[in-house]
Amino acid sequence: MLPIEEVKSTLEDAGQSHILQFWTELSEGDKSSFLVELSQLDLHELREHCERAAESAANVQSASAADQQIEPVPSEFIGSIRKSDQTTLTCWENEGYLQISQNRVAMLLLAGGQGTRLGVPYPKGMYDVGLPSHKTLYQIQAERIRKVQELANAKHGSKCTVTWYIMTSEFTLDPTKNFFQENNYFGLDRSDVVMFEQRMIPAVTFDGKVILQDKGKIAMAPDGNGGLYRALVDNKVLEDMEKRGVEYLHVYCVDNILVKMADPIFIGFCVSKGADCGAKVVEKAYPAEPVGVVCRVAGVYQVVEYSELPLDLVEQRGPEGELVYSAGNICNHFFTRAFLNEVAQKYQGQLKQHVALKKVPFVDQDGNMVKPTKPNGIKMEKFVFDVFQFSRKFVAFEVLREDEFSPLKNADGAPLDTPTTARRSLLAQHYRWALAAGANFLDAQGKPLPSRPRVTQDEDPPVVCEISPLVSFFGEGLDQLLRQKALTTPLLLDEKRAKELLQAQ
Ligand code: UD1
Repeated sequence: MLPIEEVKSTLEDAGQSHILQFWTELSEGDKSSFLVELSQLDLHELREHCERAAESAANVQSASAADQQIEPVPSEFIGSIRKSDQTTLTCWENEGYLQISQNRVAMLLLAGGQGTRLGVPYPKGMYDVGLPSHKTLYQIQAERIRKVQELANAKHGSKCTVTWYIMTSEFTLDPTKNFFQENNYFGLDRSDVVMFEQRMIPAVTFDGKVILQDKGKIAMAPDGNGGLYRALVDNKVLEDMEKRGVEYLHVYCVDNILVKMADPIFIGFCVSKGADCGAKVVEKAYPAEPVGVVCRVAGVYQVVEYSELPLDLVEQRGPEGELVYSAGNICNHFFTRAFLNEVAQKYQGQLKQHVALKKVPFVDQDGNMVKPTKPNGIKMEKFVFDVFQFSRKFVAFEVLREDEFSPLKNADGAPLDTPTTARRSLLAQHYRWALAAGANFLDAQGKPLPSRPRVTQDEDPPVVCEISPLVSFFGEGLDQLLRQKALTTPLLLDEKRAKELLQAQ
């Protein structure tokens, strides 16, 4: 902990002396916790941070599409599930499983966000979208890791590990850690789940002053999911990967209920292409969908975030009426460890700072708590995909939305990306798998139900069928369990039920 006199003079130098404005009013306990907080801040970076924030906020809307030289990525440059034949897909998948079986693949979850839009007071990964099993997003993800390991082992006679790195923040670390402990790491070996914390940075007013959230507390926020690269260095995660022999990293965001963990096809595709960086995309559903878009900016592959794509480009359509900027980023990225090392050493400090204008509660000059009704603060964030520009070989890979993308962003009541739409997407996928495996469903009275594999997010699938990831990773292995079986709904196909169905053959 730094002495108060030293903190005072550094804050004065940084033009931030108001931070200690209420110092004399604080209790001894509050003084010492505030001093701890201030000592952890990089006070020397503070001036630069505040100035940069104020400057960026002033220029927020300036660059036009032409200034930025944005162009779409021609579809022939994007790998695709839809456009590839089965032999090619199998080839990529085999490559992926081979790498997994050799412990060369790890997952990295970005879970430091505050989940403001969903509005729950705990990390999003702990959310239960109301499936029959009541599994949370974390549990679903953990079980998919267990299954993909099992499949790789079965193919290669190995005993492999897909290490799970989880980036948290001050908001999410403790609850996430406790939740994993209480749930016995969902059956994973706890030494293969590595949690680490990203940094927090102060929120700043439009004139570059750090915001006090309380008389003895600064308003802090995580530094964006691009804070990953600094956190990898701070927490020696790259060294850990090297020790474990991890060469490839599949990075993803917490809220996509359909995330295909350590996706062997995607990994195999990226490895076969010799890529150091990759991104999965889906075709955008509608112009204003809040997804970033993979494009080229001044000739270099990048994601332009939905909040930053110029409006005329958002709406632009091609000759067939298709959206020109349609390669929607689903926050599933591939990186080689070698590339991450390079980013850590050379580029991490150069990452762009993006500006978000937010309503940040604060104490005013007179010490009153104020809840602003319009944005009053600037939060600076780095984005995880901003390293693509440093890549030597970037690839994009298009997957099917109905199979791989249904994010949980908003609370129920919102039209899209809610617990209801996430639950429906998963149940619809499992219903499709069951039908493809030859299952017949009966209603509660034993009457056969007609098959209707195509359902939209606006309706519940006609049958409630949930398949545990421990039974099937991506629809495989269900024929032997379900073919020509008459199954009463709701069906919860977990390991126990799978055993019963096998025995009933
Ligand atoms: C993100 C993508 C967007 C993509 C969309 C798909 C970024 C910057 N944007 O947008 O291009 O189309 O997902 O659903 O990646 N997080 C941290 N630390 C932070 C902030 C966020 O770990 O400081 C994590 C969150 O916990 C989450 C992920 O990053 O897992 C994405 O963050 P979120 O704010 O949900 O991004 P979106 O705006 O939805």
